[in-house]
Amino acid sequence: MEKDIASIERDCSAALDGVAEIASLNELRVQFLGRQGRLTGIMRSLGKLPKEDRKAVGQAANQVRDRLNQAFDSAEEQLKSASLAAEIQQRIDLTLPGAQGVERGCVHPLRRVEAEILSIFTRLGYAVASGPQIEDDWHNFEALNMPPDHPARDMQDTFYTRDGRLLRTHTSPVQVRTMLENKPPLRIVAPGAVYRCDADVSHSPMFHQVEGLVVDRGITMADLKGTLAHFAREMFGADTQIRLRSSFFPFTEPSAEVDVSCIFCAGSGCRVCGDTGWIEILGCGMVDPAVFESVGIDADEMQGFAFGMGIERIAMLRHRIPDIRLLFDSRIEFLEQFAQRDREI
Ligand code: DAH
Repeated sequence: MEKDIASIERDCSAALDGVAEIASLNELRVQFLGRQGRLTGIMRSLGKLPKEDRKAVGQAANQVRDRLNQAFDSAEEQLKSASLAAEIQQRIDLTLPGAQGVERGCVHPLRRVEAEILSIFTRLGYAVASGPQIEDDWHNFEALNMPPDHPARDMQDTFYTRDGRLLRTHTSPVQVRTMLENKPPLRIVAPGAVYRCDADVSHSPMFHQVEGLVVDRGITMADLKGTLAHFAREMFGADTQIRLRSSFFPFTEPSAEVDVSCIFCAGSGCRVCGDTGWIEILGCGMVDPAVFESVGIDADEMQGFAFGMGIERIAMLRHRIPDIRLLFDSRIEFLEQFAQRDREI
């Protein structure tokens, strides 16, 4: 019987060596150690042995059972970790580049251009001012020399609130607030959202402007022109020229619209500038004495200039963006290009 036990151990170990799957391992375990198994059979028949042999044979059988159980356990563990490793190998290609799931954001092109505009002026000593987007009629129109029946109000389609206030149609009311709250000399730029009932490829009902205001003794149109020429060169490149075209705004006198030499064709004429070589970028002028009067500044003592520009327009020119709506659609394909530029910087 002891020989039988030894041969069971040998057979079982040999069979174990060839097992490659958990299922066949289990079958083998049943075959040798299960209730009908070969070793179990032997252990059942111990009672038939003469008493003096029983103990030694029983011990031998127990030891073999323990060793085989151990062998099965470790074989099972090996098979499991091998199959896990195989599964991982299948799913994960360790030669691929590292995780790319983290999308990097970037500064929105509008905010970037706004920051550039502000930095050009803050480097000249201007302060940054702001005002409310929900304004009253007086700050948005009347104090800016547009009385209730003034035809200039027709130029702007205004959103009114139910309580008689309005969404500011331009950043010019910040001029008024600044002059009411501070004494000259003043040098401010005021960025922010403005609203007009208008929408097409170049108009959005909400857009952004930067207002500029300088008030001091002896300010002239030459200061205005020099400042804007400096701005244009900083913004669009050292070769950029500007020209002032006579215009009208109720809050400035004289008033002008400012063109820059076309940044696409450098003035020789192209589709963007409509073959004129010039592109309009802002409105400006000398602060009208009527505006000074409404904020209590003596126009004989103080002079000033003001200007206002649309940030979207500048951004569209700077980045050659063909449709204003791209700036507000939050389309990832569009915005991603600016993240790309951030990385290049
Ligand atoms: N407020 C004007 C607009 O929204 C822009 C403007 C023109 C602002 C001339 C000024 C200025 O300060 O002097 O169209």
